[in-house]
Amino acid sequence: MLARSLCALALVCLASGQLVPPNSFPHVWPGQPKGDFSPEWQSYFEVKDLSPQIPTGLPRSFAGNIPVNRAGHPNNTLFFWGFEREGANGTLTAPARANNTDPWILWLQGGPGSSGMLGLSTENGPIHVLSNGSWVLNPFSWNSLADTIWIDQPVGTGFSTSDAKGYVPDEDQMAEDFLGFLTNLVKVFPSLATRPLYLAGESYAGTYIPYIVKHLFARPSNPVTLRKIAIGDGSLGSLATIRDLPVINIVETYPAIIGYDQDVFNYFKEQHHLCGFDLNLTYPQVGTFPTLNLTSGLRATLGTASTGSRAAASLKEAFVNELAARQRTSRSSPAASERLQKRSEWKRDLSGRANGTIDPWYGCDVFDEMRDYALNFTFPWSNGGFDVYDIPDATHPEPPLNAAPFLNNERTRAALHAPTSKNWSSSFNYPFGSVYNKSIGNEHGDPSVEPVAFLSELAANASARNVSIVFYSGNDDSQVQHRGTEVVIQNFTFGGIQGFTRKPSTPWFDDDGNVAGIVHQERNLTYVLFAGAGHLVPQWKPVQALVFLREFVLGENKNGTVEGSAVVGGEDPTLAGDYLPGGAEIFYGSGTTAGTSVVPSATIAAWNSFLATATATTVASVSASATASSAGNTTPSASGVSSSSAPTSSSATNGALAKALRWSNGLASRVAGIIVIVLSFS
Ligand SMILES: *[C@@H]1O[C@H](CO)[C@@H](O)[C@H](O)[C@H]1NC(C)=O
Ligand SMILES: *[C@@H]1O[C@H](CO)[C@@H](O)[C@H](O)[C@H]1NC(C)=O
Ligand SMILES: *[C@@H]1O[C@H](CO)[C@@H](O)[C@H](O)[C@H]1NC(C)=O
Ligand SMILES: *[C@@H]1O[C@H](CO)[C@@H](O)[C@H](O)[C@H]1NC(C)=O
Ligand SMILES: *[C@@H]1O[C@H](CO)[C@@H](O)[C@H](O)[C@H]1NC(C)=O
Ligand SMILES: *[C@@H]1O[C@H](CO)[C@@H](O)[C@H](O)[C@H]1NC(C)=O
Ligand SMILES: *[C@@H]1O[C@H](CO)[C@@H](O)[C@H](O)[C@H]1NC(C)=O
Ligand SMILES: *[C@@H]1O[C@H](CO)[C@@H](O)[C@H](O)[C@H]1NC(C)=O
Ligand SMILES: *[C@@H]1O[C@H](CO)[C@@H](O)[C@H](O)[C@H]1NC(C)=O
Ligand SMILES: *[C@@H]1O[C@H](CO)[C@@H](O)[C@H](O)[C@H]1NC(C)=O
Ligand SMILES: *[C@@H]1O[C@H](CO)[C@@H](O)[C@H](O)[C@H]1NC(C)=O
Ligand SMILES: *[C@@H]1O[C@H](CO)[C@@H](O)[C@H](O)[C@H]1NC(C)=O
Repeated sequence: MLARSLCALALVCLASGQLVPPNSFPHVWPGQPKGDFSPEWQSYFEVKDLSPQIPTGLPRSFAGNIPVNRAGHPNNTLFFWGFEREGANGTLTAPARANNTDPWILWLQGGPGSSGMLGLSTENGPIHVLSNGSWVLNPFSWNSLADTIWIDQPVGTGFSTSDAKGYVPDEDQMAEDFLGFLTNLVKVFPSLATRPLYLAGESYAGTYIPYIVKHLFARPSNPVTLRKIAIGDGSLGSLATIRDLPVINIVETYPAIIGYDQDVFNYFKEQHHLCGFDLNLTYPQVGTFPTLNLTSGLRATLGTASTGSRAAASLKEAFVNELAARQRTSRSSPAASERLQKRSEWKRDLSGRANGTIDPWYGCDVFDEMRDYALNFTFPWSNGGFDVYDIPDATHPEPPLNAAPFLNNERTRAALHAPTSKNWSSSFNYPFGSVYNKSIGNEHGDPSVEPVAFLSELAANASARNVSIVFYSGNDDSQVQHRGTEVVIQNFTFGGIQGFTRKPSTPWFDDDGNVAGIVHQERNLTYVLFAGAGHLVPQWKPVQALVFLREFVLGENKNGTVEGSAVVGGEDPTLAGDYLPGGAEIFYGSGTTAGTSVVPSATIAAWNSFLATATATTVASVSASATASSAGNTTPSASGVSSSSAPTSSSATNGALAKALRWSNGLASRVAGIIVIVLSFS
């Protein structure tokens, strides 16, 4: 299955069935200077002739491939597209001056194998692709505050090139490649060597960035002057830590996932406990946490078709068939109403499940178990879509945001000095060591240990060099959920003390004075939680993400900072719970139609009192939408879930759809591409 889809992605498939990663190399465009990199290359890299589908008014930008300087791999390059700060003209090309303190930002995507151009074109970049293929300017681009360069890396990702045997084998090589690239980049743009660098990225960049910084610190002299790192929804710990451990937190944030069913909650809580995922976070933290093991069940053996047991395979097939059958029945058919009636039986059917033991089918893949539960039994996810990157998004299929037609057109290629030996793709399955062998290392085939293993050492070196650390999370992300980030924070030592000494509970605000989430800062570590944002934080909360960048990354806003026995900006006890409730509304439908599903307020009230009494869990409450909203006609169904649907346009005003249309000016923006490969972080 994996092999087939990979071949479909234009990889070379040898007759033997063995997969060879693509071989690619940079293109020499007219006017390329001879010799080593120097400011002479600036005019070569300048982007001059973008196709007319891109609106005018962009600041100057520069793009192309730059080698990573790896011996024996002259064709290994990274692709960059860098924009000068909005309103500036000449900031990137400024001459070297030690007193130039103009900040600059590098943005890395995750994956592994996702292109930085994905972030540029759908998240925090100056141009934004819409689901109908049109492009608009993004007024909330991060280059409105500083020169920003989006990178495709590691080698072979997006427009970056690699010879077929040159794909990085591990994160140490990734870091060395990146520093080789930076060494060349600052020869082209010499001011960048001393200007304060803010190294930012998302998702699997939570693995890349700590490794890059580790290697940077290990060098006697540095090509750049790092000031801060900022990691969003980052894979800092193991999959068990960042994805499975948070399952109870995920369900508490969005109890709609299990239809607000208390028995089901107790079932998952027991599985969670049996798997050792119920770590107790204390402030201050006492002792380190154990290593979490993701003991897989029968189901996991399906990943490798040849080794999967036949019993498991046929179970899987039954599951897939059943799901497909359910998806075929439209909501208005008689079968659908029968389904609605039966749902409460299905969801309560816990009799066949493990009781007091770890479920043999899922093992400790409680995340997959939770997601399958929603797809099996819970409307509206049972319509076919669970977006791990944005929990309340059950739309299926999602409208695509596809930058490929633009990036791959010949005029764009020439304008960006991009390679002609390969086509751009937003994401691919990164072949560590140039082999597609996911049985090596972690679930991505990456053999390097996760950053949590060396974060304490990294933090000590960072303090010594005046480099600050920012971790941020979108509260609606389930793939790399914020509870995992909080576990990582409590489990490492920075500024001489392990973890935060007080529980994060200070609100932060956007420029209109709306609460945007929670901020907490101690000893040069900043943690920011975004209410209402999925995995791709700047896509879902562009306005707030820019305020965050200005105040907590480029700026030194002290809100949330522990100073003696006080916290700047105060602590709000209602934000001190284990989780921040998500909205009550779940979005479904597809393309041009969308609706919301909300439960009656009585269901929510009953649930809240259940959580308050039956468990020790405390509830935080930023989100005003945690109460049921009246999204039109709400007829209770057998499951207690009521639903309504309405065309996007007419619903845009009802708060419910504000989320589906979160992008500015009512432009719907949904994630595409990266959802295809579930195990890939973006
Ligand atoms: C930058 O300044 C140059 C002249 O120095 C001008 O030709 C160019 O159009 C300006 N570019 C932008 C984007 O303002
Ligand atoms: C690098 O790419 C060139 C084509 O530009 C090719 O001729 C050469 O063999 C490649 N080198 C390696 C080491 O792959
Ligand atoms: C920065 O240094 C240059 C000389 O390298 C000098 O001309 C300039 O005035 C200085 N700028 C500031 C703001 O100090
Ligand atoms: C795409 O959608 C935008 C926003 O609704 C609209 O302004 C634009 O005209 C549309 N483009 C095309 C080609 O339909
Ligand atoms: C966390 O605390 C609860 C309640 O005291 C306890 O039942 C549980 O075993 C603890 N978890 C761990 C991993 O120690
Ligand atoms: C916590 O830190 C310890 C010591 O560094 C490490 O062995 C363990 O794997 C970490 N646990 C988690 C859940 O990150
Ligand atoms: C995970 O496995 C390691 C090695 O087998 C073991 O030392 C550790 O105690 C296990 N962790 C838990 C929480 O069971
Ligand atoms: C699990 O077992 C307990 C007794 O050990 C029982 O009370 C409970 O009903 C069982 N739960 C399910 C879902 O079967
Ligand atoms: C989903 O349904 C399949 C097929 O009936 C079943 O094997 C699987 O255990 C169910 N998963 C959950 C979490 O309910
Ligand atoms: C890029 O895509 C086009 C259109 O699908 C195809 O014709 C071409 O061969 C591809 N180029 C490479 C280098 O894969
Ligand atoms: C935090 O950084 C500041 C400089 O920005 C430094 O003076 C201070 O010592 C650092 N604090 C710790 C605990 O590392
Ligand atoms: C910081 O706190 C002050 C005082 O509470 C508040 O007015 C301001 O909006 C806060 N800024 C941010 C970015 O949260």
